[in-house]
Amino acid sequence: MTGFEEMTDAEFGLYQKLIHSTCGIHLTTAKKQLLISRLRKRMSALEISSFRVYREFIIKPENIDEFNLMLNAVSTNKTDFFRESVHFDFMAKKVYPLLIKQREIRIWCAASSSGEEPYTIAMTLAEALRSTVCDVKILATDISTKVLDEGEQGVYAADMVAPIPQALLKKYFLQGQKEWKDYYLVKDELKQWVHFKRLNLMEPFPLSVQFDVIFCRNVMIYFDLETREDLVNRMERNLKPGGYLLIGNAESLSGLKHNYNYVQPAVYQKKAR
Ligand SMILES: C[S@@+](CC[C@H](N)C(=O)[O-])C[C@H]1O[C@@H](n2cnc3c(N)ncnc32)[C@H](O)[C@@H]1O
Repeated sequence: MTGFEEMTDAEFGLYQKLIHSTCGIHLTTAKKQLLISRLRKRMSALEISSFRVYREFIIKPENIDEFNLMLNAVSTNKTDFFRESVHFDFMAKKVYPLLIKQREIRIWCAASSSGEEPYTIAMTLAEALRSTVCDVKILATDISTKVLDEGEQGVYAADMVAPIPQALLKKYFLQGQKEWKDYYLVKDELKQWVHFKRLNLMEPFPLSVQFDVIFCRNVMIYFDLETREDLVNRMERNLKPGGYLLIGNAESLSGLKHNYNYVQPAVYQKKAR
C-alpha cells in the first residue's frame, strides 16, 4: 500500500506516550523514521493510511491483538546465544555450583526475546549438573508474542547457532536433514526446562515464585530511570535472599535506590536479610 499520511510531530508524541505508558520503552525523536516504517507495515495489512486512525484503532480494548502486533513491530529483539558470555562464566564458576546442591532451581529470563538467552542458560546449567538430578524451571518471558513463538519452536538457522561451542551444539541440538540441514532444533531435554510466557515488565508480575537468579539484560536500556528503579525493586521481591540479578553490560543500577549488593559489572545480589 502507498499513500500514507505524514506523521506530524504531535502524532509522534502521542505514539511516544502510548508506547512508554504501556511497555516502558522510551522512543527518542531520532526513532521517528524507524517507528513510521515499522507502523506502515501493520497499517498496510489493515489498509489504514492515517497514523491517527491506526492509533485510535489499536487502543480499543477489542483490538488488543493488533495492539500486540504493533508492539511486536516496534520492539527491538536483538539477541544471541552466549551474548555477553562473561555472565555465563560467572554462573558456571559462582552460581551453578551452589544451585546444583538444591532440589529445585528456578531462573527467570525476563526479556527472553526469541529464546537464545534462556536456552544458553539451560545449556550451561545442564553442563554444570552433569548427572545430578534437579527440578529445573527456566521461565522465559517477553512482551512480544512473535519472539515467544520463535523461542517455543526452538529452531535456529546455522548463522544463529554459530556462537555455540561445537560440542554443546552437538549435544543439545538436532541438525535438520535435507532442505533443513542449515537449521538446528533444541533437544527436548533442554526444551522441557524452558517455559515461554508473555509478560509485560511494566505490569504487576503474576508470579508467586522466588527465583534463584533473574536475567534482565538489554531491556532496561530502553526504559527511563524511574521505570528502571521500579522494575529492579519489584524483581527483588521475586528473588530469594542472596539471589542474583544479571543485567546487560551496558546497563547499571547506579543512581537507583535498591536493595542489592554490587558483585561485579552487571551482576547484583539481593541482600540477605
Ligand atoms: C534487545 S532484546 C534483549 C534480549 C535478551 N535479553 C538479550 O540480552 O539478548 C530486548 C527484549 O525486551 C523485550 N521487551 C521490551 N519491552 C518489554 C516489556 N515492557 N516487557 C517485557 N519485555 C519487553 C523486547 O520484546 C525484546 O525481545
